[in-house]
Amino acid sequence: MEVVIYPNYEAMSKAAAQMVARVLNAKPNAVLGLATGSTPEGLYRELVRMHREEGLDFSQVTTFNLDEYVGLPKSHPQSYHYFMHEKLFKHINIALQNIYIPSGTTDNYEAFCRWYEERIRQCGGIDLQILGIGADGHIAFNEPGSSLGSRTRIKTLARQTIEDNARFFDGRVDLVPIYAITMGVGTILEARKIMLLASGKSKAKAVAATIEGPVTSMITASALQLHRDVTIFLDEEAASDLKLIDYYRWIQANKPGAPKT
Ligand code: PGA
Repeated sequence: MEVVIYPNYEAMSKAAAQMVARVLNAKPNAVLGLATGSTPEGLYRELVRMHREEGLDFSQVTTFNLDEYVGLPKSHPQSYHYFMHEKLFKHINIALQNIYIPSGTTDNYEAFCRWYEERIRQCGGIDLQILGIGADGHIAFNEPGSSLGSRTRIKTLARQTIEDNARFFDGRVDLVPIYAITMGVGTILEARKIMLLASGKSKAKAVAATIEGPVTSMITASALQLHRDVTIFLDEEAASDLKLIDYYRWIQANKPGAPKT
């Protein structure tokens, strides 16, 4: 894992966008795995800016989102379909038929999950997967205890996730869906390249467990230790519980080609 630490959220988001741009410049028809939540918003803003001002081209890009709430129609303002269109897709030149997001309203979830996995394979696999992390260490909606070999499926959300996400539902825990459809940890680990972003003190413990703890299904992000090409983008607060923080900074400052603050 490569750990890179930036002074603040904006700097972290810009550095992460640079990594996405490098992948797209090398492979204009790359397949991107996308995440929702507060954390990647700055990254998406920067990608939109790069599209507008620098001509970053998405015309051949295909995207697969990690997850969606079960029961929310695409038009619901808290659905991840809505989020992605508002925050990214409607501002860039991506072809609508190249956008894949798990369905929160299918009448056959099992068949849909199989189809989603198959579609990822048919498109050549995910070149770059963008991830956030939950305060409980989840990636996508792979809550503690999820199999590290899991595939796209329905998950029951943990209480902490429901409480964390209630802020998007007028602070009402009872309005947060209980189920989500999510790529599995096994699905995520098949991406060729992975970047995980974390910002703020509330993520510090999960980040430390992910990078420096044992590989365990109790912190599904820790499975990333098994992947050969993962970059962890952090701001100072999210990095604040890392034991080897001085070592990561030293590497960041000295490694040839390492992203600089
Ligand atoms: P957040 O969510 O970016 O809104 O903190 C991250 C997650 O739960 O995966």
